[in-house]
Amino acid sequence: MRLSINIDHIATLRNARGGKEPDPIAAAYIAELAGAEGIVCHLREDRRHIRDRDVELLRETVKTKLDLEMSINEEILSIAENIVPNLATLVPEKREELTTEGGLDVIKNRTKLKRAIARLHDKGIAVSLFVDPVREQIEMANEINAEMIELHTGDYANATTEIKRIIQLQRLQTAASFAHSLGLTVNAGHGLNYTNIFPILTIREIEEVSIGHAIIAQAAFVGLFDAVNEMARIVHR
Ligand code: PXP
Repeated sequence: MRLSINIDHIATLRNARGGKEPDPIAAAYIAELAGAEGIVCHLREDRRHIRDRDVELLRETVKTKLDLEMSINEEILSIAENIVPNLATLVPEKREELTTEGGLDVIKNRTKLKRAIARLHDKGIAVSLFVDPVREQIEMANEINAEMIELHTGDYANATTEIKRIIQLQRLQTAASFAHSLGLTVNAGHGLNYTNIFPILTIREIEEVSIGHAIIAQAAFVGLFDAVNEMARIVHR
């Protein structure tokens, strides 16, 4: 399994004082040194954390793989077409949410999503759709030509009892097997941390996890290199 690090919250911290530090570009550099195989950033329509300048510089400096998380808003789509990240992960976006709250409704938005995927593919950008572990959504992701999905692990991460957690893990396993059987590459993310990552490692079809908040929170105490390195060691086991 590979590890991608989401550096949005480095930008959140920077923006809190309106200055230049900490710089997400430096964070991406350290994360790669510490074993991350990809850097993820979400250019939100409201630019609450990552900004246009960050994406431009990350495109220049990231040596592993730049995964741009994004909605299919026209402005953001054109930025992606210009920047050409290695991967575009399409997510639903609501202004009032604290973080991405659920997977895409691929079925409802299939026409718009299919058009966006085709535009990104025309630029040579691979496309992943962030989806809940629901068979019909995965089927539609495949139909509209996404080559990859990222399974939303939020329900698993937020499960309040052991039995609920096992049920959610089973949902993820079933969804990952189904997606893999269709030929889709399977990633996963949201709410993963140093504890709940272990059962996820047993799902063999998941090739990569995308983790942000838990690692940046840990970094506040132990430093970014150690926080990323610890997770990289777990994920590479
Ligand atoms: N994957 C996606 C699609 C996300 O939107 C996020 C949150 O930005 C993550 C992964 C990372 O989630 P977390 O910050 O909870 O690790």
